[in-house]
Amino acid sequence: MNVQEFDVVIVGGGLSGLRVAFELAGKWNAAVISKVHPLRSHSGAAQGGINAALANTPTGKDDEPKRHAYDTVYGSDYLADQDAAMFLAEEAPKIVIELESMGAPFSRLDSGLIAQRPFGGAGFPRTCYAGDRTGHVLLHTLYEQCVRKEVKFYDEFFLIDLIKVDNQIAGIITMNMATGELVIFRSEIVVLATGGFGRIYKRSTNAIINTGDGLGAAFRAGIPMQDCEFVQFHPTTLLGTNILMTEGARGEGGLLFNKDGERFMSKVAAKAMELAPRDIVSRAIETEIIEGRAFEDGYVHLDLTRLGKEKIMERLPGIREISMFFAGVDPIEKPIPVQPAQHYSMGGIASKYKGDFGETPMNGLYSIGETSCISVHGANRLGGNSLLETVVFGRYVSRVILKGGKKKKLSSEVVLKAEEQTLDMVENLFKQWKENTGNKPVEIRLVMKETLDKNVGVYREVSKLQYAVTTLQKLQKEFKSVQFDTDDRVFNFGLIRLLELRNMIDIAEVTAFSALWREESRGAHYRTDFPKRNDEKYLVHSLVSRDKENLVMKTKPVTLGLFELKERAY
Ligand code: FUM
Repeated sequence: MNVQEFDVVIVGGGLSGLRVAFELAGKWNAAVISKVHPLRSHSGAAQGGINAALANTPTGKDDEPKRHAYDTVYGSDYLADQDAAMFLAEEAPKIVIELESMGAPFSRLDSGLIAQRPFGGAGFPRTCYAGDRTGHVLLHTLYEQCVRKEVKFYDEFFLIDLIKVDNQIAGIITMNMATGELVIFRSEIVVLATGGFGRIYKRSTNAIINTGDGLGAAFRAGIPMQDCEFVQFHPTTLLGTNILMTEGARGEGGLLFNKDGERFMSKVAAKAMELAPRDIVSRAIETEIIEGRAFEDGYVHLDLTRLGKEKIMERLPGIREISMFFAGVDPIEKPIPVQPAQHYSMGGIASKYKGDFGETPMNGLYSIGETSCISVHGANRLGGNSLLETVVFGRYVSRVILKGGKKKKLSSEVVLKAEEQTLDMVENLFKQWKENTGNKPVEIRLVMKETLDKNVGVYREVSKLQYAVTTLQKLQKEFKSVQFDTDDRVFNFGLIRLLELRNMIDIAEVTAFSALWREESRGAHYRTDFPKRNDEKYLVHSLVSRDKENLVMKTKPVTLGLFELKERAY
């Protein structure tokens, strides 16, 4: 048995995981375990920017963290925990300055200050950016800092399962993808930062790697999933590939038109127009598609031609390159064909804000970033708050962990026993998959994705959601007899895809189940059969866990108290 022992094991090499590793480096013995090289993490795909009330621009000079927190809570349709949102907003200016001092090459104003652009649902230009490659530059900056601090990386190791003793985390079991060897990372503190699970949908801006591996492992270990019904659909993704066309394009002045040349956002958000929050813009586009005012293949136009060549080349070079390469459209000359697609998961592993920040209901197990639900985004995340969350919470959780001191509560014997049992379980699983005669993983995977796309989308209603839940239950049964007939584990991506499917299918079922349960419309969750927000019954977080075969719903209160409840209007 290959066992590596650490004070802290961080799973995920994106911005959240790197920020934890950066803080712990040189203090404690920590390791970052990542499915891909950290520079290939999905954080690198974030384009438009990171929010902080720096008040750098003339039109944003009155901005302040409290306004940022308010916009976040209002945009969340009041499901965000207000104390957590306030903390995020207050930490934002500090963390952006920290990133700047690490060397992040932010775009600049003529004054030399960090440039800020308008983003959806924000009262001021608040989104700091580096052209349209903000995630990319932040990821490189933080990775360089981690290399400088000699952080220990285990790249291309796949998280299979958590190892626990009663309700205490004891480590994780992984597969070294290059060799196929099963490797155990032993630690009584584990931080899950594996990103989101967008790839349960077919149409998604997410990287292929976003398969909810941390969530799946936590869910199997008995930890509830919170608010998974709230799936964010980004309004502007490129027709065909669904690659992100940043909200920054609208922040810079890009406009949306239907096939009749109508600026349709005036019908639903007369003031904010294209810069309404994402849930509202996505619904507006979907309505144009459903009601026949979109182009034939189900898209509308994102028109940047009015920005001019110079602005596009300076602020949106990546958007131009992607549009030209993947859609044959040069946005300097022609509008970009766009449609909504899955982009982000507001829900995730239930994790604490108060008390031991980031800790899940399992002792010593923490989760942050898109993997977690803490919850700062509530029912709808504002663009630019996701990059922010990764670094603010990455820094904070590591400080909480350091303050709590090293953990070594479990005896070596019980740990060894738990490790052996987990190893046997995994070997048996592989053996079972080899002996099975059921469907191939890809068959299950495709049905799952199509089911989510067609039935748990921008608009939802009871019969479609019931169909999704029933289909996913059926797929769960089929998964029990899924076949994978090989012993070859060396760089076997078929096996990795199967292990990913094991995670995705659980989270897909939770997503559909939660969406069926929530009989109201709030933020990104829009039920045509319950079109109103119902605070009396549903101003609560959903918490789903499994009891044998069945999913069970519990709820917990939303933390209010800072901002008064209102109906949203933009
Ligand atoms: O549109 C974007 O650039 C995406 C930003 C985000 O999801 O925060």
